[in-house]
Amino acid sequence: MSFTAAAKVFILFGDPVAHSLSPVMQNAALQAAGIDGLYIPWRVQSTDLPTAFESIRRMENFGGANVTIPHKEQAFTLVDTLTPEAAAVGAINTVVSKDGRLLGANTDGPGFIRSLHEGADFLPRGKPVVILGAGGAARAVAVSLAGAGAAPIVIINRTAERAQSLTEFIHGTIGATALGLGLDDPRTPTSVRDCALVVNTTSVGLHPTDPSPIDPHLLQPGVVVYDLIYRPRETALLREAKRRGCRVVGGLGMLLYQGALAFELWTGIEPSEAAMRQALVTAVA
Ligand code: ATR
Repeated sequence: MSFTAAAKVFILFGDPVAHSLSPVMQNAALQAAGIDGLYIPWRVQSTDLPTAFESIRRMENFGGANVTIPHKEQAFTLVDTLTPEAAAVGAINTVVSKDGRLLGANTDGPGFIRSLHEGADFLPRGKPVVILGAGGAARAVAVSLAGAGAAPIVIINRTAERAQSLTEFIHGTIGATALGLGLDDPRTPTSVRDCALVVNTTSVGLHPTDPSPIDPHLLQPGVVVYDLIYRPRETALLREAKRRGCRVVGGLGMLLYQGALAFELWTGIEPSEAAMRQALVTAVA
């Protein structure tokens, strides 16, 4: 990687941030595009995020930023304007500097929809889908699936109240048909058996010894099973789903495409996805 003293600086805000693959991926994209710039992690606590955002407003060579756990919702309140997607989700993962103002965007949902299409040839319109989990990642996925016309959207979560509140949000903002259930709700097995897509947004699977977040016997052949987790590349959910004849997609594509969309918003240039993918695959291996 090479850059000069005139380099643009791109920043990833998070806490923790050391695990992130965005620096390796975005620096590969900058290099492939011949941009004099560098992408650095900035570990910052929530209480200091407003000050950090004041700093990027004053930084003459600020190129753009990403925001990751746990700052996506707070960062939403610290920018001047929002893209419609970000406004719908209520959280941002990308900051763009435009004429001295900060624009907040959310490329997680569009990145997910694109990788779903490319990884499994899946178009959500009119299809019944199940989302496992009801946190921040589930919200971005639910908004994007609702926007793409999936119906009904069933959100299944360990804590039923969280599933219901996300359901109300999706229904209220986008008008989607949605149902929120607890893991042990008697309607949960039928919802999984009858759906065309299952998306895991929970953290179950991050540890190699984690079980599947849902009873794998419920997965029917031909169903698309998507796990947002990208490390390990094959979670218990994906392994079990594959054995049952499901089409499986891991989270690396979403990571790649949300990053590619962010890069394009910052620079106006389509990045080399081949260079980004190569950097990711090497890092994950
Ligand atoms: P993120 O922003 O990445 O989505 P989050 O908001 O902390 O993170 O949400 C994590 C999700 O994983 C939640 O849906 C959580 O369920 P609860 O709402 O009941 O906490 C789910 N989750 C985490 N650990 C889990 C476990 N061991 N079993 C089932 N669900 C789990």
